[in-house]
Amino acid sequence: MDKVGASLLRWLALLIWFFFIVKLTAASRKIFQSENGKSLGVRLHKHHHRMVMDNGLVQVTLSSPGGDITGIQYNGIHNVLETRNREGNRGYWDVVWNLPGNHIAYDRLKGTDFNVIMEDEDQVELSFKKSWNFTHGGSSAPLNVDKRYIMRRGSSGVYLYAILERLEGWPDMDMDQIRIVFKLQNDKFHFMAISDDRQRIMPMPRDRISGEPLAYPEAVLLTNPTNPQLGGEVDDKYHYSCENKDNRVHGWISENPTVGFWMITASDEFRAGGPLKQDLTSHVGPTVLSMFTSTHYSGKDLNTKYRNGKPWKKVLGPVFVYLNSISSLEDPTTLWEDAKDQMSIEVNSWPYNFPQSEDFPSSDRRGTVSGQLLVGDKYISDKPMWASYAYVGLAAPGGVGSWERDAMGYQFWVQANEEGHFLIENIRAGHYNLYAWVPGIVGDCRYDVIIHIQPGCDVKLGVLVYEPPRNGPTLWEIGIPDRTAAEFFVPDTYPTLMNKLFINQSTHKFRQYGLWERYSDLYPKHDLIYTTGISNYHQDWFFAQVPRNMGNHTYQATTWQIKFEIENATPRTGNYTLQVALASASASELQVRFNDRRAKRPHFRTRLIGRDNAIARHGIHGLYWFYSINVPSRLLRQGNNTVYLTQSRSKSPVGGIMYDYIRLEGPPETGPSVE
Ligand SMILES: *[C@@H]1O[C@H](CO)[C@@H](O)[C@H](O)[C@H]1NC(C)=O
Ligand SMILES: *[C@@H]1O[C@H](CO)[C@@H](O)[C@H](O)[C@H]1NC(C)=O
Ligand SMILES: *[C@@H]1O[C@H](CO)[C@@H](O)[C@H](O)[C@H]1NC(C)=O
Ligand SMILES: *[C@@H]1O[C@H](CO)[C@@H](O)[C@H](O)[C@H]1NC(C)=O
Ligand SMILES: *[C@@H]1O[C@H](CO)[C@@H](O)[C@H](O)[C@H]1NC(C)=O
Repeated sequence: MDKVGASLLRWLALLIWFFFIVKLTAASRKIFQSENGKSLGVRLHKHHHRMVMDNGLVQVTLSSPGGDITGIQYNGIHNVLETRNREGNRGYWDVVWNLPGNHIAYDRLKGTDFNVIMEDEDQVELSFKKSWNFTHGGSSAPLNVDKRYIMRRGSSGVYLYAILERLEGWPDMDMDQIRIVFKLQNDKFHFMAISDDRQRIMPMPRDRISGEPLAYPEAVLLTNPTNPQLGGEVDDKYHYSCENKDNRVHGWISENPTVGFWMITASDEFRAGGPLKQDLTSHVGPTVLSMFTSTHYSGKDLNTKYRNGKPWKKVLGPVFVYLNSISSLEDPTTLWEDAKDQMSIEVNSWPYNFPQSEDFPSSDRRGTVSGQLLVGDKYISDKPMWASYAYVGLAAPGGVGSWERDAMGYQFWVQANEEGHFLIENIRAGHYNLYAWVPGIVGDCRYDVIIHIQPGCDVKLGVLVYEPPRNGPTLWEIGIPDRTAAEFFVPDTYPTLMNKLFINQSTHKFRQYGLWERYSDLYPKHDLIYTTGISNYHQDWFFAQVPRNMGNHTYQATTWQIKFEIENATPRTGNYTLQVALASASASELQVRFNDRRAKRPHFRTRLIGRDNAIARHGIHGLYWFYSINVPSRLLRQGNNTVYLTQSRSKSPVGGIMYDYIRLEGPPETGPSVE
């Protein structure tokens, strides 16, 4: 090696060493220091049709009065957003809506009225408003909109929230989707991270165009990708869906310069459908979403129908768009670690105390609810048991389990501790029911009393006992009552249809494309038969009951059998109960027959249910459906019995149901141990 090369190497080593020991702390790395050591104040530059917020770290440009984000300048990148897109197609809010009976429409919520809400060195807050009145008719969504953007001193990003409002007497509408969209520089951002175990180099948009669409347009086989290593993989934005409770931070990393762009959501209070609702995160584009409501994984069973002129108002957000950077010598994935640290900071500062809207209450204007939840099931334990790690939440008053189908109200959820103690803080003033479900325990719990939350209140509910569905002793059970089908048999997908990210990842196996097709391979002629006491649901219970592919685009309804023995020498009088919990349903009808497969009338039928489409979208659950089926003992006999489960609708290959849990209970016991 020549001398110049050697000294260059020495310099490089020195440089690496320098970065290593200086290992700037997260804070000082992010905060641009001005010469006197203080971070710069926030400045607002007003131009004719654009507003620029700048805090020395990040510069955000907004169209005015429309209120779209057209530019984000950061760390030497003039605009992290895709400059080849027109200005209104880079960073924006939109809703999918329709008047009843009309076609769906998109509304970009363009502001018509710009106002500076706050402007000083520490914070700038801008408002872009749009008002609806009857002269607009159906030409735009009947909504008043106030889009807010906040930049703070020393903060490497921008906060976004919006206040959406409908006044009394306004026309009926459906609002199926509300979201924020960012489209990043296609040539820069190639690495996407959703969670610790879901991050990868992503294909380019043009790879999807040159690829081969699969069963639906969102899923594409990459036949000729720019990065040849991705050839033969499937790309589908639904691979990267996430439950609300786990969707705190996701985004993209650019390699040169090394910059991260992250969507951080500190709270689920404004998201639709509660903690288990799944939705999109980031996907090829490079696109970054913040989904507030959508019919993904729920269909129109999620209540998105605004009716009867009922006034409605909701604050969506704030969410935080966070940017970070490191030197090109460091490992880019440290940006993910730093984004998670920032997420924790945001979560710990929730509810934020700086948004200026009166409609966003700070902590002191919110209330607290606490208590302890127990489970009373005498067939499991004589004494009530702790509802260990139960999910407990407040949501709009409604029926048992209605929180999962509610898109309009706020929801406040926590997970109880091992002893079932729960503490829900920072609840907005209003009326709620308390809902819960307990991992491992079937059914949905609702505390019947309406809870009134007033600013500063502290409601102590004491001990509550949830009595889950139960009529008699367990004769057999299949699965774990946890509202998912994850414990059942999830097959490998076809080697030609893989997303390599999910290979060797048992927890994400269900996210592969095309798993529904495997049923017809595994059960080409005869449907699944499960024998209690012999079969093992991890291996012998396919995760979804789908129609069988008969070739030539025809599909056949399937009937699964559960075989079991009733041993009692003297058949008991009294009724049995079949408890059936479904984790998902799409254009399906479940029919249940006992010992007579051909009985014209099923003993029980759900009729047509479900639109959650969770099988096609690789969700392992959609919405929860629970049925407690009374089974008179005359339907069963001593010795061998069979339950026939027919999913009778077979039009769509991806229609079907996922079971959560099935249990057969004997007739109620009477005796000293059970009251
Ligand atoms: C209704 O909207 C139209 C069009 O935006 C506007 O010109 C008019 O002033 C509004 N009327 C009222 C009463 O606000
Ligand atoms: C999956 O695991 C097998 C066996 O450990 C290994 O040979 C293979 O390379 C892994 N595949 C991926 C994509 O990680
Ligand atoms: C497939 O279906 C079409 C239309 O129903 C029919 O014309 C054709 O004969 C079928 N082909 C086979 C191989 O069954
Ligand atoms: C048992 O089943 C019969 C027939 O369906 C029904 O009439 C009766 O009410 C049931 N008994 C109980 C205790 O549920
Ligand atoms: C019940 O079925 C099992 C096999 O599943 C069989 O071995 C047994 O003989 C049957 N019992 C009766 C009484 O038919």
